[in-house]
Amino acid sequence: MMEYNRQITRTLHQEHLATLGFVERLDTFLARNRGDAAAPNGDDLKRLLGDLRATIGGEVTKHFDFEEGRLFPALVAGFGDNAMVMILTQEHEILRPLAKQLVTLAEIGNNQFEPAAWSEFHRQGSEYIERMMSHIQKEEMALLPALEDVLDDEQDASLLEEYAMNG
Ligand SMILES: [Fe+2]
Repeated sequence: MMEYNRQITRTLHQEHLATLGFVERLDTFLARNRGDAAAPNGDDLKRLLGDLRATIGGEVTKHFDFEEGRLFPALVAGFGDNAMVMILTQEHEILRPLAKQLVTLAEIGNNQFEPAAWSEFHRQGSEYIERMMSHIQKEEMALLPALEDVLDDEQDASLLEEYAMNG
């Protein structure tokens, strides 16, 4: 992974790493517990679902909203190039309802998944993992480096402040 020089890009990079960390855990869990097998239960499941709600619920929404509301426009203003912005926005639009659905299923499954809910969680979880990994990879390779080029010190500082205040 790259090193970033701006504060806002570093912040987003850290969040990408945290999301990837969770996505990898989810991936390992889903590999160990197949969708067509009996639904898992116990402390491992509870912990995973608790972290799922915390990570891909509010945090991801805040991150996506900020990228769309503040960073994508800065990029378009700087480069006039919005093909990448369009692709990333479309991916957000797919990931948002998927994340919401997973959080809802996680709430249903907190104590014990019914077999159908478990296989649905497994299916949607696998799709989320695949899409999120490729999305973050794109942002790390294209979005963050482009932002580094387009933002000056002042914009960087004010974006960081605004993002922190959204907390
Ligand atoms: Fe992002």
